[in-house]
Amino acid sequence: MKKYSVTIIGAGSGYTPGVVNSLLEKRNKLPLKKITLIDNDEKRLHIIGDFMDILVKERAPEVELVLTTDRKVAFQGMDFLLAQIRSGCLKMRSIDEKIPMKYGVVGQETCGPGGFAFAMREIPQMIAIAKDVVKYAPKAWIINYSNPTAIVAEAIKRAVPEVKNICICDVPPWQQKDMAHMLGGEPEDFQYTYFGLNHLGWFTHMYDKEGNDKLPLLINMIKETGLEAKTYTDPYWERTAKRLRQFVGHFKDSLPTSYLQYYYYHDEMFKEEDPNYTRADYCIDHREKETFDLCKEGVKKGTAKGNVLTDTIHGDFIVDIAASIANNSNEKFIINVPNNGVISNFSSDSIVECTAVINAHGYEPISVGKIPTFQKGLMEVVNAYEKLTVDAALEGSYEKALKALTLNPLVPSTHVAKKILDDYIEANKKYFPELK
Ligand code: G6P
Ligand code: MN
Repeated sequence: MKKYSVTIIGAGSGYTPGVVNSLLEKRNKLPLKKITLIDNDEKRLHIIGDFMDILVKERAPEVELVLTTDRKVAFQGMDFLLAQIRSGCLKMRSIDEKIPMKYGVVGQETCGPGGFAFAMREIPQMIAIAKDVVKYAPKAWIINYSNPTAIVAEAIKRAVPEVKNICICDVPPWQQKDMAHMLGGEPEDFQYTYFGLNHLGWFTHMYDKEGNDKLPLLINMIKETGLEAKTYTDPYWERTAKRLRQFVGHFKDSLPTSYLQYYYYHDEMFKEEDPNYTRADYCIDHREKETFDLCKEGVKKGTAKGNVLTDTIHGDFIVDIAASIANNSNEKFIINVPNNGVISNFSSDSIVECTAVINAHGYEPISVGKIPTFQKGLMEVVNAYEKLTVDAALEGSYEKALKALTLNPLVPSTHVAKKILDDYIEANKKYFPELK
């Protein structure tokens, strides 16, 4: 069996231990020759990477582990690039979230205006990375978590169409897992019907092995208790899962993914957010700090034994996709792809989130057909915002940027859009493409 070389870019992230753990766990289906960790921040790379070195040596000494800041070293000979970069780190996310709060708008790092700022930082980076993949490892697949993942997909599709790229998000698989658990099963016991955009999707059916649709039953259960959050269990995600109770109380025909809370209940989300201490600040002080501390502790002890940084849905999902490509095994995953008729009443050049079969040739999306007006209406406006964001970044256009933010459903007027945009440009001098 072939052994694969996998590179993780943005490896100084707190998500890396979960991905490395999943890689090690799943060596039976994705045999490993080498794991390369690359980050442009050498300090963060080593906080995580030095501990990963101990982990790999203990669990899989036959696998080579390389730490580098050099893309040529990291990309040459690789089969898969697992991308999870966050340009400006959580520090910039915190600014993205706080600026709109001054004007009565939730920032939100992916679907709100915060996602616009994030995209303007990520697009130039991800395009440069994709070009280097074409240069150094043209046969390699990028599997990308870097957010906002659909906007990144759109930018790569336009700027580097020749690269092999799949953009993904762990919300659909974690929600599938929690949905299955509530019904007393596992995700693989069900067939899910799903469509939408990234962080803006709906489950419409959930068939069991006998072909019975269990979604109406699950929706009734969620109406009572909310979704029971077992996969992500910090207070924010628990609140988010509970809020699904409110959604299905209002709209019973489908089960939305949790990010729709920002569109359907913006007023409530605004009240919940502390303008001086946003979600990003919490993640810096908790998840990131705790992960870094555990890594440092592991390095001090010289062992990974007993360490609680175990595998995660985030890691499992990306590694399962790589394995489905490697083994040509035609497994189904919810991913972000160009629509091309998958949703028949939605524009063909838009990136949509849907189920696709994944194999050695890439992905084959499963047709969705026509979608209802309620869902389509919101998707149209968000998709227009996403395309205008990519236009703004690629053309360096201030007007396109203002149009994008004006269309974002969380932004109430062009006046507010302009204030947010001008503050973002000021705060992101080091990162944004020049907007004229
Ligand atoms: C999920 C989403 C990611 C997002 C993350 C934020 O995992 O799929 O796209 O970045 O949540 O979560 P956090 O816990 O950092 O607020
Ligand atoms: Mn996501």
